[in-house]
Amino acid sequence: MIFSLAHQKGGSGKSTIAWELAINFLNKGKNVRILDCDIQHTCIATNLMRNGAISEGASIMPLDVRAIDSAKGLASFANNDSDDIIQIIDVGGYDDGLMRLALAISDFVITPLSYDYRVIAGLPTFTKALREVDKKIKEETDAFILYNNMSYQRSDFSVVNEMVKKLDRYKKLSSILRTRADYGNAIFAGGKSVTEYNPKGKASEEFSALADEVENLIKGVING
Ligand SMILES: Nc1ncnc2c1ncn2[C@@H]1O[C@H](COP(=O)(O)OP(=O)(O)OP(=O)(O)O)[C@@H](O)[C@H]1O
Ligand SMILES: [Mg+2]
Repeated sequence: MIFSLAHQKGGSGKSTIAWELAINFLNKGKNVRILDCDIQHTCIATNLMRNGAISEGASIMPLDVRAIDSAKGLASFANNDSDDIIQIIDVGGYDDGLMRLALAISDFVITPLSYDYRVIAGLPTFTKALREVDKKIKEETDAFILYNNMSYQRSDFSVVNEMVKKLDRYKKLSSILRTRADYGNAIFAGGKSVTEYNPKGKASEEFSALADEVENLIKGVING
């Protein structure tokens, strides 16, 4: 099974969430792989830090992260997809052929939204691309909005709620990820996830709830 973290606007949290989900699943004994389609290869770079920590004796498991530089490369992983592996695509923060192919081959799409006006204002443009892909594949792939990097003080989401409703293309995940320093700290601590870094912290608690929600989506796909 294969799903994407996608939004053509940079900085909404795609790589962070792809990385954290992959490690969460890895630590639950699942077979998981990240397909890093971003030209900047953020997940590849983060994985270098993780592999460095492992070679220095850190007791964390290695993660399978692949650099994808072409449609052909992405298609080959999609063609060999199965229910026995969770393939998570980290899409770059721009609209290109790889983003469109990722949307087309995904079982579902997660679009993170932070409360940054550029990220929110970019959603209609992303939705247009998503609808163009719908047309091409003659199917509406499930797409879920995830509120990420939200101030812990924010309880009013009306601006984004209204926009998402008006676009009439998305479902919403009920988990909300708040702005937590642990996301950055965990990576600097040797390419760890927030749960590996600080299992009792708020970021770990919030992220575990999201991972459970995504796991249910995956079960839904696998059980048809
Ligand atoms: N919930 C969060 N709490 C704190 N920091 C966060 C959170 N989510 C993301 N960030 C930070 O925001 C920055 C952008 O996140 P990230 O790189 O995941 O976005 P992206 O959508 O992958 O960006 P791009 O499109 O440029 O690849 C990073 O520094 C990341 O650590
Ligand atoms: Mg990224």
